[in-house]
Amino acid sequence: MLKKILLTGAGGRLGSYLREPLTKMANELVSIDIKSEIGSLYDKETFKQIDLQDFSAIKEVSKGVDVIVHFGAIVDEAPFPKLLGPNFIGSYNIWEAGYLNNVKRIIYASSIHAVGMYPKNEFIDTEVPHRPDTFYGLAKCFTEDLGKMYFEKCGLESVHLRILSCAKVSNSRALGTWLSYDDLVHLVNRAIDTPVTGFKIVYGVSNNDRSPVDNSSASFLGYRPRDNAERFAKEILNGTYPENPGSPEVALHGGPFAATNLGESGIGGFGIIDESKTKD
Ligand SMILES: NC(=O)c1ccc[n+]([C@@H]2O[C@H](COP(=O)([O-])OP(=O)(O)OC[C@H]3O[C@@H](n4cnc5c(N)ncnc54)[C@H](O)[C@@H]3O)[C@@H](O)[C@H]2O)c1
Repeated sequence: MLKKILLTGAGGRLGSYLREPLTKMANELVSIDIKSEIGSLYDKETFKQIDLQDFSAIKEVSKGVDVIVHFGAIVDEAPFPKLLGPNFIGSYNIWEAGYLNNVKRIIYASSIHAVGMYPKNEFIDTEVPHRPDTFYGLAKCFTEDLGKMYFEKCGLESVHLRILSCAKVSNSRALGTWLSYDDLVHLVNRAIDTPVTGFKIVYGVSNNDRSPVDNSSASFLGYRPRDNAERFAKEILNGTYPENPGSPEVALHGGPFAATNLGESGIGGFGIIDESKTKD
């Protein structure tokens, strides 16, 4: 059992599904977010309101922590100066504080948008060079490289979960890209409890028949997703076919973010339904 886990972005949608399972993996879970409150706390959980841009607060809160699960970020495309603090400098603050405090490993919520400009009919593995589709995706590339550098220079391990889309399946893209909440929890669990990871990238995707990515190089993590979006295919594809295969939104891995202009919000294109979990 770990002593202490730090979760950033605890007030977010994915954070809401991770909080309770993480309390089962350590004696203490410290949840942080820029929001002032995140609802009722679980047993063994404490909450602090902290901005990722505040290095001294991040350094203080990561003392005595074994593993940081870094999910806090602005989750949309936006002008570069708006993302610079939370998504770029915030990542640096997490890694530098983690290094100074002897944190063993960081689990990072990366994204398919680090490689979003690859064509959809290319089955991409975890080793392909970055091809970000937005400034948002560029921050994911930056953080993956940051993680690689801190491992190679300082021995700080990190596992980068390139999540495709962790939300209710509501469109044809999600038949390939869906990551169920249960599989997300299993993936984070394996990223934490695998004895040795070094620096590793793994796609966060369920066991979908139509998955467009290859996780074989991350097999040693023991991530074996159980859910499959195919069960939604009949309902989702009914009346929506054929799509325009020439549009970047359809043809590229990044979907709506591959089609949006740099700096312009694209999150609406994903049709995400907010179904954050709340403590009973
Ligand atoms: N949901 C998905 O399908 C998906 C896909 C790929 C990657 N991701 C990544 O997963 C993570 C969580 O995504 P989510 O869907 O839960 O998004 P979310 O917006 O619900 O959660 C993000 C959280 O980060 C917090 N945050 C933002 N700026 C902050 C700051 N400056 N300091 C501290 N906290 C700050 C927000 O308040 C929010 O609670 C993000 O890093 C996102 O990029 C999500």
